[in-house]
Amino acid sequence: MCGIAGYTGPKQAIDIVFDQLKRLEYRGYDSAGIAYLDKGAITVLKRAGKLKELGKLMEDGVPAAHLAIAHSRWATHGGPTDENAHPHYDQFEQISIIHNGIIENYLDLREELIAKGHTFRSETDTEIAAHVIGDEYTKTGVLEDAVRNAVKKLRGAFALVVISKAEPEKIVAARNASPIVLGFGDGENMLASDIPALLPYTRQVAILEDECIAVVTPSQIRILDFDGKEQRVEAMNVDWDIQAAEKGGYEHFMLKEIHEQPNVIRQCLAGRIDEKNKVRLENVFSEHVWNEVDRINIIACGTAYNAGLMGKHLFEKLLRLPTDVFYSSEFRYGDPVLSPKSLAVFISQSGETADSLAALRLCKQRRIRTLGIVNVMGSSIARECDRTLFTQAGPEISVASTKAYTAQVLVLSMLALYIAQLQETPGVRVSECAQMLKQLPQLAEEVLKLEDQVIDIAGKIKDTNLIFFLGRGADAYLSLEAALKMKEIAYIPTQESPAGEMKHGPLALVEKGVVAVFGATDEALREKTVSSIKEVDARGGTIVAITTDNDSTIEKSAEHVIKIPDTKFDFLNSLLSIIPLQLLAYHVARMRGCEIDQPRNLAKSVTVE
Ligand code: F6R
Repeated sequence: MCGIAGYTGPKQAIDIVFDQLKRLEYRGYDSAGIAYLDKGAITVLKRAGKLKELGKLMEDGVPAAHLAIAHSRWATHGGPTDENAHPHYDQFEQISIIHNGIIENYLDLREELIAKGHTFRSETDTEIAAHVIGDEYTKTGVLEDAVRNAVKKLRGAFALVVISKAEPEKIVAARNASPIVLGFGDGENMLASDIPALLPYTRQVAILEDECIAVVTPSQIRILDFDGKEQRVEAMNVDWDIQAAEKGGYEHFMLKEIHEQPNVIRQCLAGRIDEKNKVRLENVFSEHVWNEVDRINIIACGTAYNAGLMGKHLFEKLLRLPTDVFYSSEFRYGDPVLSPKSLAVFISQSGETADSLAALRLCKQRRIRTLGIVNVMGSSIARECDRTLFTQAGPEISVASTKAYTAQVLVLSMLALYIAQLQETPGVRVSECAQMLKQLPQLAEEVLKLEDQVIDIAGKIKDTNLIFFLGRGADAYLSLEAALKMKEIAYIPTQESPAGEMKHGPLALVEKGVVAVFGATDEALREKTVSSIKEVDARGGTIVAITTDNDSTIEKSAEHVIKIPDTKFDFLNSLLSIIPLQLLAYHVARMRGCEIDQPRNLAKSVTVE
């Protein structure tokens, strides 16, 4: 998500890392910075905004530096400001660091450091990590030892890159889940968060393994594990063309983003569920506000609206809290009836959608409390809502939203559990569900392994003229999102509704050649779903059904069955089932030769009415 670059060797390091950052621009970012070594001190240049803003700081020239690191940041902890941009110093400006990922226990560490007299210049978790490493460096005087000691105190997913003014040729990098790629040169070495940044300089690369530290100098790259044990390092030759490499080897950003979902789930959950399976949400309203709220109105567009429907399902089912979901465009012109005790929840990936922003301003005029669920930090909706929860899905480049939806539903799930926890809502198994949420990244990885089966099904249905997306309960809401993906990128007309509605009209459209995709992941509703499947089957429709791996009923009536792991929670089963359905839309679109990342007539951020 954020970009990392680093170089040590005889050439002008500043130019090289700046160029490497440019090659990572496709990942999206909202601030950037460089740290380099000059005359025994570390200089940091950083700016909010695009790389050209950072470039302006170097317009009057920079010294010849032979060691530099650079970072492009996608804001998560702290908005996209100059102060929050990386690199960060430690307390004594002896080291400087850049970081991708999230330090989950940064608040606890911050308190410990403040008690020791540390002061901070930013709101970031990264600066906390810098101070922890700086403290260790004061004790050891050897950068890799300091990093090794410090990482034992850090919890979360991270890639850290550190330099010291006292070790002028050395870059130390540590990896725990977030990627780091090492590049081997001739008398020079480098690193980056992704292969494309290295390709103009070297094609000899190695991926740093998890829980390992790289010590990079111009003459060698050493790898140690977190216990200090030396590891073998072997470079591989990469012959990718640069454009393909930007998509991490995937043919399209959409496919890359679908595959990122296990990590997105990890990032979204990070720091929000503790060891005791308690939900910890920062920056939401206090308990008395939740006790006062008598109704929730969720307001959003497109995919975010569909995520909102899952929110309605959760708030009503778990909390018995009346919830309505509005299209932003309807809400703003619809003269809505709003209870003064209601809460308006705005869901938006971009945080800039014009209709949602206008609806938000309407709520503010009417003095209604507002909560944002937003991906882009510093965006208008994030800034203008009373409170905002960030989805932390990283930049989404494909116009068709995939990972943002998953993260939005996850945040809504955590919010519902959080309220249930505060209010001790009877019958809600908060801790059991929170525990299952923690397993979701692995389960999403399992689901991604179904891709070959999905490709096979895509090949069989790709020429159809109409696809129904049907389900009951949470699966009914999910089917709206699955249908939206199919029409957006494969341009196949779809008909989506609760399965029980079929016989009230849409069934008239079923004939041979029509495809119906059923969500049947809720055991309690499965028998009823079988009846709906039979209705379509009897009229010659082709059935694709998604069910759980412990079910053997659906396969008796459906031609193609996709089985996902059973989480025992209806909304989590539904959420997992979006992954094969995103893949289905993607592969059907690919087989039909459609323009996937930029479908016709659509834009990523709809900032006009
Ligand atoms: C569909 C899609 C759109 C957006 C909608 C709202 O794949 O991406 O339907 O969900 O335009 O955008 P945001 O979430 O940025 O407010």
